[in-house]
Amino acid sequence: MDRYLVFGHPVRHSKSPFIHTLFARQTQQELEYGLAEPAVDEFAQALRTFFDQGGKGCNVTVPFKEQAFTLVDRLSLRAKRAGAVNTIKLTDDGVLLGDNTDGAGLVADLKSHGVTLADSRILLLGAGGAARGALAPLLAELPSELVIANRTHTKAQQLAAEFHDLGPVTAQAYEQLAGPFDLVINSTSASLQGELPPLTPALIHTDIAIYDMMYGASDTAFISWAKQHGARQTMDGLGMLVEQAAEAFTVWRGIRPGTKQVLRELKRNLGVI
Ligand code: ATR
Repeated sequence: MDRYLVFGHPVRHSKSPFIHTLFARQTQQELEYGLAEPAVDEFAQALRTFFDQGGKGCNVTVPFKEQAFTLVDRLSLRAKRAGAVNTIKLTDDGVLLGDNTDGAGLVADLKSHGVTLADSRILLLGAGGAARGALAPLLAELPSELVIANRTHTKAQQLAAEFHDLGPVTAQAYEQLAGPFDLVINSTSASLQGELPPLTPALIHTDIAIYDMMYGASDTAFISWAKQHGARQTMDGLGMLVEQAAEAFTVWRGIRPGTKQVLRELKRNLGVI
């Protein structure tokens, strides 16, 4: 049977095996999908061993995405732009192809929630790996403006300069942000510590869409905060998780699984519904 897995550390709580097993059942593909948690300095060896032993493809998550970028034979354009690899496929001619489906997953999830990106003003919070992966796919949707705000402002400036040729992207300091924005995407890891990015509540209005790339069994700190200040449409990163997985599955198997039912089952599994 064709073998796939996700590399990460820690990875025990990964939902990827659950999601891909449901995709395989739905599309009647014969495959198995597991977990691998190599020591941080043993990822390269573990990756080689997996493919030497017949593995067909893998996902890569924290903290290995940047390392995977340096270990594959060839990179897709979107992986090059993201500077990180979350999906690897062994091609029929034996080449290890590194891809990145995170940004496509974000855009697909936003669209599935009915969020209009064309001609919109988007505020992206954070300038780390998650923000970098989102930039090109967001700009490809032709927003009228994409503003990056980051705690360390110079990182936002660097990122804006790097993606400037792909669309109208600028960096603004948190305290200088000028609304109104149609969509705010939180790509920071602040919610992991229950913290909030230093955003003024004045930017929140009833018609704004709020997206937090993090997720949990209950609202993230950022989503709770936005709701408190009047945001009516809030979304967490669970849908992005399922959509990036669907994109990876499509890269591997050439068949696109449906995501709605799988997302519902995942929510049930997590106790969210
Ligand atoms: P990832 O790969 O998940 O994006 P990262 O590269 O470590 O992780 O980036 C984390 C991002 O969250 C950074 O933009 C970080 O801001 P700094 O560049 O100033 O470090 C941001 N971040 C983390 N904690 C934050 C907090 N409490 N408030 C605001 N921003 C925060």
